[in-house]
Amino acid sequence: MKIAFGNDHAAGELKPLLLELIGELGHEVIDVGVAAGEAVDYPIPGEKVGRLVACKEADLGVLVCGTGVGISLAANKVKGIRAAACSDTATARLIREHNNANVIAIGARIVGAELAKDIVKAFLTTDFSGDERHVRRISLITEAEERFGK
Ligand code: RB5
Repeated sequence: MKIAFGNDHAAGELKPLLLELIGELGHEVIDVGVAAGEAVDYPIPGEKVGRLVACKEADLGVLVCGTGVGISLAANKVKGIRAAACSDTATARLIREHNNANVIAIGARIVGAELAKDIVKAFLTTDFSGDERHVRRISLITEAEERFGK
């Protein structure tokens, strides 16, 4: 898969570890985040990753900021994006199985490096279940997005 990756300056030492993991899992990375020592306001990489995924230039997105929240909020402003900030592996798996989330966000100041890697691995190795009830619920989210012309 092609994975869009974005981060702000809070990603610190976590970014190279996650890029290494994503490569080990056999994926190609499109990196729109900042390098160590550079700063950026988190909405910028959040929107960039959202656009890459929404335009199908990437299959899924991985974001990192301090909490994972701000950058996920920005990604979610792009139509078609279902981004979630995750701090545990069960949620990372369930947002794929149940919500068909297409972007995950990690808080580099919230979770340690090993847990962050496990979270990203769970996200990238889990597929959407395709169960009717989940398809129906996601359609309701999409309909809400259409109604408000996001
Ligand atoms: C940057 O200092 C910090 O605000 C940002 O990484 C993130 O935590 C916002 O949600």
